[in-house]
Amino acid sequence: MKRFSGKTVLITGGASGIGRGTAIRFAEEGAKIALADLNTAGGLETAGLCEAAGGEAIFIETDVSCEQAMQDFVESAASRLGGIDVLFNNAGFPGAVGPIEALSVEDWDKTFSVLVRSVFLGMKFSVPHMKQRGGGAIVSTSSIGGLRGYAFGHAYSACKSALLNLTRSAAVELGRFNIRVNCICPGQILTPMAGGDHSDLAALEADMATRQPIPRAGRPEDIGNAVLYLASKEAGFITGEIITIDGGLLAGCWDYKAPAEQDVPSSAGFIGPSFQIDAQGDA
Ligand SMILES: NC(=O)c1ccc[n+]([C@@H]2O[C@H](COP(=O)([O-])OP(=O)(O)OC[C@H]3O[C@@H](n4cnc5c(N)ncnc54)[C@H](O)[C@@H]3O)[C@@H](O)[C@H]2O)c1
Repeated sequence: MKRFSGKTVLITGGASGIGRGTAIRFAEEGAKIALADLNTAGGLETAGLCEAAGGEAIFIETDVSCEQAMQDFVESAASRLGGIDVLFNNAGFPGAVGPIEALSVEDWDKTFSVLVRSVFLGMKFSVPHMKQRGGGAIVSTSSIGGLRGYAFGHAYSACKSALLNLTRSAAVELGRFNIRVNCICPGQILTPMAGGDHSDLAALEADMATRQPIPRAGRPEDIGNAVLYLASKEAGFITGEIITIDGGLLAGCWDYKAPAEQDVPSSAGFIGPSFQIDAQGDA
């Protein structure tokens, strides 16, 4: 029997990238999936890919920032699939970007409505179904941008950070209902949203391989595998947790670049305390 046979999984932002990759992984494990997205062509394509991978899938065009649309998505998915076991809150975009003094209030609020309000709405409408079922798992997509600040991405960073404590507060409240709530922080993943020149995907992939210690581009299925784990019974004692999946990027620093061959040291060295460096003549 497959790991998610008979389980129902709701995925927002399922038309593309991480949502699509995760949907396919759940489908390979036998799940029944409901996909929500604004992108109908992409959503239908993902549903087809899920069916081909061995799952069942439906797509419902949904603006995740809209309360009525999210309620309709959740209710329709629950009735068509037969309840809700897993909710993956994942839809997103970069939102308002630019110098802080130039950001408009309208763009700021719109970013929050898609990146934060949608996650609250997903939880609000799915939790009653999970309680009825005796439990469930919620996973939301934050970002390494929610763990670190970066210039010109203030709204995105603030939104993704908000998801960390929404995850924790919901986990604290819902544990006694056997509903686990966790959050993932992807690093740089090769999806249409990833930064860089998408006109030459091979070059972009090669460039992304240099952006973190693991020397390859992050892939949607890297995130999907973590979401499957968090949704599985093997993660039954994990809740309120934030998992970073970034190929080691935050283990180092944001500006990590794979060193050029000639810069790779051929032997070990020792750099002492900084106050000694001048004295050693090393600075
Ligand atoms: N790609 C990365 O490097 C990366 C890194 C960290 C976090 N993330 C996060 O991962 C999530 C998925 O992003 P992705 O990289 O797969 O990008 P993507 O663009 O491939 O997928 C995002 C999906 O969300 C959908 N969406 C956006 N606004 C929506 C709305 N209002 N209603 C319904 N659907 C909407 C888009 O149509 C798209 O299909 C996002 O939350 C993003 O912030 C991505």
